[in-house]
Amino acid sequence: MARITASVFTSHVPAIGAALDMGKTQEPYWQPVFAGYEYSKEWMKQNKPDVIFLVFNDHATAFSLDMIPTFAIGTAAQYTPADEGWGPRPVPRVQGHPELAAHIAQSVIQQDFDLTIVNKMDVDHGLTVPLSLMCGQPQAWPCPVIPFAVNVVQYPVPSGQRCFNLGKAIAKAVNSFDEDLNVQIWGTGGMSHQLQGPRAGLINKEFDNAFLDRLIADPAGLAQMPHIDYVREAGSEGIELVMWLIARGAMSDVSGGAAPQLKHRFYHVPASNTAVGHLILQNNPD
Ligand code: DHB
Ligand code: FE
Repeated sequence: MARITASVFTSHVPAIGAALDMGKTQEPYWQPVFAGYEYSKEWMKQNKPDVIFLVFNDHATAFSLDMIPTFAIGTAAQYTPADEGWGPRPVPRVQGHPELAAHIAQSVIQQDFDLTIVNKMDVDHGLTVPLSLMCGQPQAWPCPVIPFAVNVVQYPVPSGQRCFNLGKAIAKAVNSFDEDLNVQIWGTGGMSHQLQGPRAGLINKEFDNAFLDRLIADPAGLAQMPHIDYVREAGSEGIELVMWLIARGAMSDVSGGAAPQLKHRFYHVPASNTAVGHLILQNNPD
């Protein structure tokens, strides 16, 4: 059977991708950001997944106001890095896993979640920057990726509670796939940031660190936090954090298993306009 072995949580700032692509990782501004992922890259090599289920948000790249799916699962065989206005990032194409993705779509839709099936999609910094942070600059990404896009750009956006419940449904779907696969689930985006309006530049370290504490130890309680608290405390783009609850909801302890091990925790301000947060939680073997 397939199983979820770990969850990874990380911010996705586009300037991080640009710093990597332009060889600026050792500059004084960027060095502390990348230092926070040294452990993670080593951990990825030691704990190589067969598939990454990557929860991210599209930033009006693949989708637009023409069509706004709340939850969209990528069932394609591959995905091309998007051109977000200055050419596609020079990173490998993303290979998909159509069989597992189709199985998850079937199971999760039958568990009463409405998913949009996406057979063709370019992937923006929301997906490629987390891969770069965790895997560095390889010739090919280490394994297939199932992109799972969540609308956190155009209101109405899904609640933390719905995201958390969706994570549980995804874990159930993975556990019923009849092939021995080691699947990681990643929750990306956040932490506090606001890119526009009078509060542009907002960062809230206290909120972010309390969010990390609760994501580790009290995810069910954290899932009850309403939208308005994200926006007030973490800024308009801080709402990206609801995606972390999908990955957290897929961990074993939420469905009666043992608490996960905290393998790594990192927090750094600033990176562009954003507070960077990062966690690795590993499920204990049954
Ligand atoms: C920034 C952060 C984001 O999450 C994003 O999607 C775009 C820009 C920033 O910090 O600049
Ligand atoms: Fe973003």
